[in-house]
Amino acid sequence: MKTSILLGLCFGAVFASGAPSFRGCEHRVKESIASPAEGWTQHSAAHPNSILKLQISLAQPRFGELEQHLMQISNPSHDRYGMHLSKEEVQELMAPHPDSHDVLAEWLATHGLGADTMDHSKGGEWVTISVPVKVAEEMFDTNFHVYHHAETGTSAIRTLEYSLPSILHKHVDLVHPLTMHAAPMAAKVRYTGSSSELQLDFSDHGSLARRANSSVDASCASQMTPSCLRQLYNIGNYTLTSPNSTSIAVTGYTSEWANYDDFTQFLQEEVPAAAGANFSVVSVANGTNQQTHPGSESNLDVQYAFGLTWPMPGSFYTVGGSQFDGNWTLATGTLNLINYLLAQDEVPQVLSTSYGLPESAISFDEANKVCQGFAALGARGVSILYSSGDYGVGYAAPNTTTAQPFEPQFPASCPFVTSVGMTSGIDEEIAGQLDGYSSSGGFSNFFARPSYQNDKVNAYLSNLGQTYSGLYNASGRGFPDVSAQGVNYLIIDNQRALNDTGTSASAPTFAAVVALLNDVRAGQGKGPLGFLNPWLYSQGYQGLNDVTKGNNPGCGTQGFNATTGWDPVTGLGTPDFSKLKDLALAV
Ligand SMILES: *[C@@H]1O[C@H](CO)[C@@H](O)[C@H](O)[C@H]1NC(C)=O
Ligand SMILES: *[C@@H]1O[C@H](CO)[C@@H](O)[C@H](O)[C@H]1NC(C)=O
Ligand SMILES: *[C@@H]1O[C@H](CO)[C@@H](O)[C@H](O)[C@H]1NC(C)=O
Ligand SMILES: *[C@@H]1O[C@H](CO)[C@@H](O)[C@H](O)[C@H]1NC(C)=O
Ligand SMILES: *[C@@H]1O[C@H](CO)[C@@H](O)[C@H](O)[C@H]1NC(C)=O
Ligand SMILES: *[C@@H]1O[C@H](CO)[C@@H](O)[C@H](O)[C@H]1NC(C)=O
Ligand SMILES: *[C@@H]1O[C@H](CO)[C@@H](O)[C@H](O)[C@H]1NC(C)=O
Ligand SMILES: *[C@@H]1O[C@H](CO)[C@@H](O)[C@H](O)[C@H]1NC(C)=O
Ligand SMILES: *[C@@H]1O[C@H](CO)[C@@H](O)[C@H](O)[C@H]1NC(C)=O
Ligand SMILES: *[C@@H]1O[C@H](CO)[C@@H](O)[C@H](O)[C@H]1NC(C)=O
Repeated sequence: MKTSILLGLCFGAVFASGAPSFRGCEHRVKESIASPAEGWTQHSAAHPNSILKLQISLAQPRFGELEQHLMQISNPSHDRYGMHLSKEEVQELMAPHPDSHDVLAEWLATHGLGADTMDHSKGGEWVTISVPVKVAEEMFDTNFHVYHHAETGTSAIRTLEYSLPSILHKHVDLVHPLTMHAAPMAAKVRYTGSSSELQLDFSDHGSLARRANSSVDASCASQMTPSCLRQLYNIGNYTLTSPNSTSIAVTGYTSEWANYDDFTQFLQEEVPAAAGANFSVVSVANGTNQQTHPGSESNLDVQYAFGLTWPMPGSFYTVGGSQFDGNWTLATGTLNLINYLLAQDEVPQVLSTSYGLPESAISFDEANKVCQGFAALGARGVSILYSSGDYGVGYAAPNTTTAQPFEPQFPASCPFVTSVGMTSGIDEEIAGQLDGYSSSGGFSNFFARPSYQNDKVNAYLSNLGQTYSGLYNASGRGFPDVSAQGVNYLIIDNQRALNDTGTSASAPTFAAVVALLNDVRAGQGKGPLGFLNPWLYSQGYQGLNDVTKGNNPGCGTQGFNATTGWDPVTGLGTPDFSKLKDLALAV
């Protein structure tokens, strides 16, 4: 193989002469970050004999083709709309170049790492190696240090920059974990500070004052329940037409578990017709579902996603890895889930996740790899929903009144997911805010604005004018895409009724509506909606309630305003199931 031989010559030459002499042999920086993730500090140099367990992710050179397929099959005006790809088709389009394994193996061999240290995972997505620090420092032309995370007492061996021989750049997407420190967080655990200066004036808060002719129960103004959501979003008593031909799933990360007894109690009290129903648990990367530790995030997610869609089969994907393991990050956890799902014959039609991070806490390479994985799932017909985050335009310096650059949230900023912001108010919905939480929204620094949202986002930006110029990236992907209620959700957690607030609640709610739309379509012999955004921005928005009041403070500003049309607070709006039903059947 040509490249393989070239690499052999290259290293032979380096070792023989002591100086790199062939093009492609010299190291070039692969990834560099300015500083470790928040909360991590550099300590001593790493011990040369410490062993690093690294995952090397090979490039997926046909991603562009996959993306093209995705855009066609998700575009309602394209004649391939809805023609989702098979497992084999997606695997083929996401496969590494056949040379890549060989080139990598040869490079590893030059560092004394034989094939036996390469563990090819199922779909060939990761090559795992274990290597002492002193060897890794040569391989990646860097120095490793021990980093400490005071809050959790963990430490990890990392670097701020690493290089690879130039010739490897086109074969390797990323080596993990060399630079990153941040694990995903449930949408709102990150909140710090009272943000009292940022609190909005709630006097015009529609929520707590019910309009005379509202058809929604008065109690919904202070306590959100599945029954309230059915009323608000015109779901009414909709019953499934094809219970077993559709599915919905939620994911749990960072040792957040879904409790069976809490679910049972929740259904008995809030969805009596579903009493006795259950959900299934799928373990990914050795994930468990411990029943002794309540996890309010997972309880919220399963109770609403499955409570609203019963009797549709619901699955809880519990992904192994914990934020207390300094080796584990959003990229590892999420890629483990993506790779798992891409290897299955059957994928859930709707997948809701309420975890995220600021883009600044992960590298572009990692975010991009994960985002491409979502595109692959979208091509299989999965609708992927993410909470947009709970920190307005960002939580940098929460108590400052001096404007700071905004902090977009990932994965909400990935153009291949549908990100969900939060609202409150039962008669007139406004952008949701409570106790300093508000809908994360803004513009990605990683991902350019996708064409499907160009018109709607440009309309917002031209109204915004010069406001906040320099604080956000006007060419970036705007988020969130849509929104749903997110304040004072009743959940059962550890056998107690609790209030939960945040986009963590909005995502499973919107996901449930999408799952019901899939059922509507299934009743007419139509397949699932799949990747939603091109449809939402071109047609689906007509079935959403535009939210035009409220804002999302943060970073020393009042944030963006919800406005007529798309806005980076509530997206295109909240669902009106009765209208969406017709729109979903029209494609
Ligand atoms: C991280 O992985 C290394 C092996 O690469 C292991 O020795 C260490 O214990 C792990 N750290 C944590 C906190 O699990
Ligand atoms: C913000 O201000 C509040 C109230 O003064 C204080 O409790 C909190 O610690 C401050 N947060 C930060 C991050 O400084
Ligand atoms: C009653 O509902 C109608 C239609 O939804 C609305 O236009 C009107 O403003 C509402 N009246 C009050 C008093 O809120
Ligand atoms: C739903 O069913 C309940 C009980 O059967 C009934 O009281 C209610 O009016 C129905 N709601 C709608 C919107 O049809
Ligand atoms: C759906 O599947 C479940 C479990 O396999 C089964 O008990 C139930 O009867 C099925 N329902 C329908 C309507 O086919
Ligand atoms: C749900 O499934 C779990 C695991 O199989 C089981 O322990 C629990 O009792 C079930 N709950 C109900 C209501 O069937
Ligand atoms: C899961 O556990 C098995 C057996 O202990 C181990 O070999 C494997 O590496 C684990 N997988 C992950 C992703 O941690
Ligand atoms: C702004 O977003 C674009 C992608 O749209 C990106 O290439 C650029 O680096 C971003 N700028 C900053 C300052 O992050
Ligand atoms: C949630 O908060 C609302 C508003 O403060 C209150 O009316 C309701 O009782 C609370 N619910 C629970 C379960 O604490
Ligand atoms: C939001 O609306 C308020 C009130 O109309 C206005 O003062 C402010 O400038 C607007 N902010 C943005 C970012 O558009």
